[in-house]
Amino acid sequence: MTEQFDVVVIGAGAAGMMCAAVAGARGRRVLVLDHSKRPGEKIRISGGGRCNFTNTDTRVGNFLSGNRHFAKSALGRYTPQDFVAEVEAAGIDWHEKARGKLFCDGSATQIVDMLRARMDAGGVELRLGVRVGAVRRCAEGFRVALPDGAVRTASLVVATGGLSIPKIGASGFGYDLARQFGLRVVEPRPGLVPLTFTGDDLARFKALAGVAVPVRIACNGAEFFEDLLFTHRGLSGPAILQISSYWRPGDRVRIQLMPEVDFAALLDAQRRRNGRQKLQTVLGYKLPKRLAQDIAARFGDDRNIADLGKADLVRVLDGLKNWQVRPAGSEGYRTAEVTLGGVHPDDLNARTLQARAVPGLHFVGEVVDVTGWLGGFNFQWAWASGVAAGQVA
Ligand code: FDA
Repeated sequence: MTEQFDVVVIGAGAAGMMCAAVAGARGRRVLVLDHSKRPGEKIRISGGGRCNFTNTDTRVGNFLSGNRHFAKSALGRYTPQDFVAEVEAAGIDWHEKARGKLFCDGSATQIVDMLRARMDAGGVELRLGVRVGAVRRCAEGFRVALPDGAVRTASLVVATGGLSIPKIGASGFGYDLARQFGLRVVEPRPGLVPLTFTGDDLARFKALAGVAVPVRIACNGAEFFEDLLFTHRGLSGPAILQISSYWRPGDRVRIQLMPEVDFAALLDAQRRRNGRQKLQTVLGYKLPKRLAQDIAARFGDDRNIADLGKADLVRVLDGLKNWQVRPAGSEGYRTAEVTLGGVHPDDLNARTLQARAVPGLHFVGEVVDVTGWLGGFNFQWAWASGVAAGQVA
């Protein structure tokens, strides 16, 4: 027998659960399908287990997309404050970290539980561990094949996310379905991901593994002020994750170490105070000691600072201010927090997330070519796009 639903949501992640809860609250008969054994796995592992569930500074400038205005409608109608109100109504305590990033005080599973409770309240049915088969148009809307038969639905919401972290259920299902229905897909690629290096760079970064330093980092017109972390595979930390979304293979990344420090003034003052200090000692007043040693060694400078000529100082200062690296690649989907690219925004209605050419077919969350910066923006997009589709599906 083929069961009939008003709304079938494929993907019980952040966007799918939110969408189902909203549609359920409208009295729609909703079914959510997921091939994983548990819903909201990415929510559970997010934010170091505390879920950075939104960012109070959410605006379209914090997102990458083939259409930079596309996300405005959904984000404007469901704001970070709206999500905070839901979190508070569910009795979940939260706190703000730097720059508007909001986290649970307790555990990220509280957010999963909150969404499940909202789905239950709306009578939403959740089927886990289900292999979703072929999707076809039919008189009622869509027919979705399942291992034990099929379901029919008037509205189909695709919330299967991107390709990041395949070991917890990521798949290209949403992209394939979009192509099947004639929608364009912007080539997916890993984002918010550590960058890798080879040769001398790798040897150098390995030796510095564990050192973190605040930087200004820039690539392809984007610029961030965050911490950079040296690792055994290359460079990571928030600065690198942020810039990785803008980096393309072959590009150089420009880095200024500790932009708030006036190294010229520091060197000048120390030369006058005690010129017999080594360069690494003076740099070490501000930079982590191991990095100060590394930089002095790179400039081959074991001289006292009083003995450094003007050209030497210019060279050192330029190295601190305008350090350029050329990554060999990224760690890829294995560790990427997000997937850039996805269903082309121009093929969707910005208000309803419905395919322009396929009535009843919606795409929400990360499967769409809207990708936020690090800091809670990706969940805010998942909630807002889920709500936008849930209000009409
Ligand atoms: P999501 O990936 O959450 O859900 C997709 C669902 O579809 C999954 O349940 C999956 O099993 C299911 N699915 C996939 N293919 C299927 C198929 N073929 N059949 C059936 N089901 C299928 N963001 C943020 O704002 N703050 C944060 O703190 C973090 N932290 C973070 C940490 C880590 C380690 C990662 C990997 C990611 C983050 N993110 C984040 C990003 C954030 O998790 C992500 O953007 C959202 O979860 C996207 O929500 P979606 O619902 O679109 O996809």
